[in-house]
Amino acid sequence: MFWRMGYLRRNEGRMADIKEKILNKFKEVFGEGEAQAFFAPGRVNLIGEHTDYNGGHVFPCALTIGTYAVARKRDDRKLRFFSMNFEHLGIIESGLDDLKPRRDAGWTNYPKGIFWALGEKGYEVNQGIDLLLFGNIPNGSGLSSSASVEVVTGYILSELFGLGISNQDLALIGQYSENNFNGVNCGIMDQFAIAMGQKGQAIFLDTADLSYEYAPVQLEGAKIVIACSNKKRGLGDSKYNERREECETALGEIQQGMDINTLGDLNEEQFEQVKMAVKDEDRRKRAKHAVYENQRTIKAVKALKENDITSFGKLMNESHVSLRDDYEVTGKELDTLVEEAWKVDGVIGSRMTGAGFGGCTVSIVKDEAVDTFIDKVGTAYKSKIGYAADFYVVEIGSGPCHL
Ligand code: GLA
Repeated sequence: MFWRMGYLRRNEGRMADIKEKILNKFKEVFGEGEAQAFFAPGRVNLIGEHTDYNGGHVFPCALTIGTYAVARKRDDRKLRFFSMNFEHLGIIESGLDDLKPRRDAGWTNYPKGIFWALGEKGYEVNQGIDLLLFGNIPNGSGLSSSASVEVVTGYILSELFGLGISNQDLALIGQYSENNFNGVNCGIMDQFAIAMGQKGQAIFLDTADLSYEYAPVQLEGAKIVIACSNKKRGLGDSKYNERREECETALGEIQQGMDINTLGDLNEEQFEQVKMAVKDEDRRKRAKHAVYENQRTIKAVKALKENDITSFGKLMNESHVSLRDDYEVTGKELDTLVEEAWKVDGVIGSRMTGAGFGGCTVSIVKDEAVDTFIDKVGTAYKSKIGYAADFYVVEIGSGPCHL
């Protein structure tokens, strides 16, 4: 695990090396000729989980790890994809006249979905491309590797075909594709965090109207540490869509007696007054999480602005408890990582991040405690779960770019 951390630190300073590596690989796979290199980040959410499809607030940031890509236009309508993360699959071919999701198309359903979504939104892409990807986001970790692929593809197409799409629209196109092409009813958080990321800043986004503000994350003397449970999850086969439906039903029940648009319109007191309108107890717990988590996010950003990292950390911890007990999306792997983290001196806050059911936790850890944190949490995790977790000390990076 120490090796992994060192690997990441070195990697961050190596964008130029990676660029050379991917350009060489592109030539080897697709042949000589001009080609351009691009990058889009992954993301981590600091607080505000499962609020983005409930009209609430989120507080994610882009990372310096992400998806690297090399692309060039073709003269025909073929799409040829190659991933350095799945080299054994070789080139996967498709075409502009075959933009349908297919199980055997594997990861290429994500870039294909963007071609499809652009067409649906009225953008003209009449030539195919050769596209090579290389991601250094751990796969299935919940750091949004798929949204990163969607955003980098949209960015590339906008650049290559002069479509002039704004970064915010790239996020919306990515989400549209994920919802309608890949069948995952996700909210806007991941694509927005990736497309709109700014170095050193988290994004305080109100998903009800997409208004947002950047908030600098200056953790004097502390680091953001991501612990990856190595329990793989895919949104499609998780209970994600089920949770979303539960919240929609709860909203419908509350709306019978109250004029609100989303659960994010309620504060805690209002929710307590109307909660019995939600008939089923589990569903009531889901709605409670959505309401309380939104309010926690607003409070957390206020605390951060006041430089009160201790309160920020406490709200992160409360967020995890709510996701564990009321929303029930954690599981023993994420609970072990977080509960072990809480025992370590110097941990300011720790919680699961992303959809849950596996994936990662995010912790704010004092500089001097980082090594002990990794050692203690790593050892306890291995002995309880039976396999190792990986740890990443991360930095907040910026949105998509040309390399
Ligand atoms: C996934 C989804 C997001 C969001 C989170 C949970 O990452 O893609 O839209 O709902 O889960 O906060």
